[in-house]
Amino acid sequence: MKRRVIIDCDPGIDDAIALMLAFASSDIDIAFITTCFGNNTIQQTTENALNLVNLFGGNVDVYKGAENPLFIDRRPIPEFHGPNGIGGATLETSPRKLGEDYAWDAIYKEAVACNGELSIITLGPLTNIAIALFKYEDLAKYIKEIVVMGGSSSFGNEQPYSEANVYSDPYAFQAVLNAKIKVRMVGLNATETTRMTFDEMKEIFDLKTSFSDKLAPMLDHYLRVQNKYGEEKLVIHDAAAMAVAIKPEIAVSEILPVSVELTNGRMFGRTVVDIRLHSQAEKNVDVVKSIDFEAYKNMLKQAVAHYSA
Ligand code: RIB
Ligand code: CA
Repeated sequence: MKRRVIIDCDPGIDDAIALMLAFASSDIDIAFITTCFGNNTIQQTTENALNLVNLFGGNVDVYKGAENPLFIDRRPIPEFHGPNGIGGATLETSPRKLGEDYAWDAIYKEAVACNGELSIITLGPLTNIAIALFKYEDLAKYIKEIVVMGGSSSFGNEQPYSEANVYSDPYAFQAVLNAKIKVRMVGLNATETTRMTFDEMKEIFDLKTSFSDKLAPMLDHYLRVQNKYGEEKLVIHDAAAMAVAIKPEIAVSEILPVSVELTNGRMFGRTVVDIRLHSQAEKNVDVVKSIDFEAYKNMLKQAVAHYSA
């Protein structure tokens, strides 16, 4: 049976690859896409989401979400995904109009309609989910699982120990954890196990597709930024998390206590994963520890082949 999902994202180059994977999958049934600030402004991420859904032939709506995080100020860092959020790629403008509801209202309506069978895949800050939980006190019981690309049980990226999606809105992720929903966290420690060479990446996307010319500038930008910082290999974080959401069996995970560091300082926004055997803390998150790299690469290759047929 296909899993009914909503994808919440902030496209974003790796979000784009994740959406490519999602729309090629026969294992998930995408209800719609919701957008959030993060890799760029909400206006830009929403425009990108609309045009990416169109690019990948998705017949689903896009609902616009949060412009800012809860309680704090955060500005996008355009360097990593480029001034337009997708590496400067120019996509055909989607003929589809933006969905009329706010993201959090659309999420609630779908969750109730699915009566507990809805899963949510988040690829950006969790602000929309948090707002939906604040606004609808009964929402949590309708959500089957949230697969989160975010956090880390080890190093960070935007900060030494804080990962970008959680760091962009730490209070939002803590609000999601407080809601006692089943959460599977695909953090940097996990996506790190899918780090690939530039040649491996090029091999995956080598097959000609209807959108190869559109993906090329995105991949080039992603490679150029990683190269600039001397990365020999690179991670497509959101695509790795999407692969785990589509095929949970490719991940090894353990349910552990997780909380978000909310005190101001160098660790603000860090996901504190308690691995102490004697810990008495509540084990509340299924923390992914590794992803089957070959299975992941094959999923990407199959997705590209799906579009090249
Ligand atoms: O830390 C990686 C995450 O931050 C990815 O979702 C990327 O798109 C950025 O949003
Ligand atoms: Ca993202």
